[in-house]
Amino acid sequence: MSLDWDVRMQTLLLNFVLATFLFLSAIQDGNAGITSSFIRSEWPSVDIPLDNEVFAVSNGHNAPQQVHITQGDYDGKAVIISWVTPDEPGPSKVQYGKSDNKYQFSAEGTVTNYTFYQYKSGYIHHCLIEGLEYNTKYYYRIGSGDSSREFWFVTPPIVGRDVPYKFGIIGDLGQTYNSLSTLDHYMKSGAQTVLFVGDLSYADRYQYNDVGIRWDSWGRFLERSAAYQPWIWSAGNHEIEYMPHMGEVVPFKSYLHRYTTPYLASKSSSPLWYSIRRASAHIIVLSSYSPFVKYTPQYQWLKEELKRVDRDKTPWLIVLMHVPLYSSNEGHYMEGESMRAVFESSFIHYKVDAVFAGHVHAYERSYRFSNTDYNITSGNRYPIPDKAAPVYITVGDGGNQEGLASRFFEPQPEYSAFREASYGHSTLEIMNRTHAIYHWNRNDDGKKVPTDSFVLHNQYWGKNRRRRKLKKNFVSNVVGRLATDL
Ligand SMILES: *[C@@H]1O[C@H](CO)[C@@H](O)[C@H](O)[C@H]1NC(C)=O
Ligand SMILES: *[C@@H]1O[C@H](CO)[C@@H](O)[C@H](O)[C@H]1NC(C)=O
Ligand SMILES: *[C@@H]1O[C@H](CO)[C@@H](O)[C@H](O)[C@H]1NC(C)=O
Ligand SMILES: [Fe+2]
Repeated sequence: MSLDWDVRMQTLLLNFVLATFLFLSAIQDGNAGITSSFIRSEWPSVDIPLDNEVFAVSNGHNAPQQVHITQGDYDGKAVIISWVTPDEPGPSKVQYGKSDNKYQFSAEGTVTNYTFYQYKSGYIHHCLIEGLEYNTKYYYRIGSGDSSREFWFVTPPIVGRDVPYKFGIIGDLGQTYNSLSTLDHYMKSGAQTVLFVGDLSYADRYQYNDVGIRWDSWGRFLERSAAYQPWIWSAGNHEIEYMPHMGEVVPFKSYLHRYTTPYLASKSSSPLWYSIRRASAHIIVLSSYSPFVKYTPQYQWLKEELKRVDRDKTPWLIVLMHVPLYSSNEGHYMEGESMRAVFESSFIHYKVDAVFAGHVHAYERSYRFSNTDYNITSGNRYPIPDKAAPVYITVGDGGNQEGLASRFFEPQPEYSAFREASYGHSTLEIMNRTHAIYHWNRNDDGKKVPTDSFVLHNQYWGKNRRRRKLKKNFVSNVVGRLATDL
């Protein structure tokens, strides 16, 4: 055992030295991107067994479980509270108020259930509570009698220009020991709301009735965070669950029954794409797996929603989607190209600050680059530095059972600023209209280790009011170099 320990410590030390060396040499290279060589021993990529305490069912007959909340309206004065009762429907009522154990108000929700193969879901409740005060702690109670349960949440400050707020960004979470480590680390970050970039439970890796059972376990796993602060949902490929061999052909069936979004408040026609405003941020959620080309509902909606963005009220414009538009990982390579071709020029036109995605099980951050000059008659095919472009960040590193996507293309493309195949989560701490502090936190054994961080300058309020400048030299350099390589 002590031998193992020594070897492990030596490996860790070596990796640290290597990573430091790479980091320092990258600094000397000026803007060259960093491919971190940090390799750490991970928990095995296996799901936590169902009898583990992280999935524990609360005591009492028909006790509510899998409690989670999300924003319930456009501006943060409403919350949707969701939960599951296992034995019978029971009440869909939420009692709530501003002090513990004193519930002046109540709201009535709805209940639904579904089958998946022969699995029958519990009774899934969704209750919208509206007209809340901003910046206020509310306590709430659900369930009945002895088995009722109590939680709390804090509403966001009123939407406004210099309102500070701290978001967490998590993707591809699953339910392994690595997922638990990510969630534990996230919960220590002090962030107030999770922007989730798709692939929730990975229940679709199971067969037959186990699919539904693993959705339930994931709901219980997540409750420690999601019952107390909103998770803003977007859908990934693991939510599609098109499984004809089991007779299940309705896409997103489990996901849409269990996780609701306030899509009507942003005039969307589908819970899969929508937007919310929270503090000083306008958050747009897109669906990589719903039609998005010109003339489709998602395309039309986005076009209108981008016009509604008011940077005086919400200086920060953030887009979430599952499939990254810029990624130099071999995993899922170029799956985002079709959406990039459709939306990239709008993101630049509307000065999107950051685009967060998941899907690729690694971490990667881009410089401000664009590739909008490419079309099928133009020869300009290389992404070029573009101060008007968003930063693209992939955080598909939540820790699911598929493991890490550890192979990156070499050499690191010019657009890629930092990439590393480790598990972790990000935070975006908005300070005011011009500055936000961004961190990527790699999970480490028991400690929170910040590894990639920078100040995100607002694209609209930034002091040089960034104009779009295409560096002609850069393009000819790249073309020239490729020519000599061949
Ligand atoms: C939903 O629950 C009701 C009441 O228990 C039951 O009769 C019905 O079959 C269930 N529906 C589905 C789709 O499971
Ligand atoms: C496509 O590229 C060509 C050559 O750069 C350019 O002249 C043309 O305007 C572009 N077309 C579109 C629709 O962007
Ligand atoms: C925003 O915060 C940053 C960092 O604290 C500060 O340097 C900057 O002056 C602030 N900008 C405004 C407009 O308050
Ligand atoms: Fe995915």
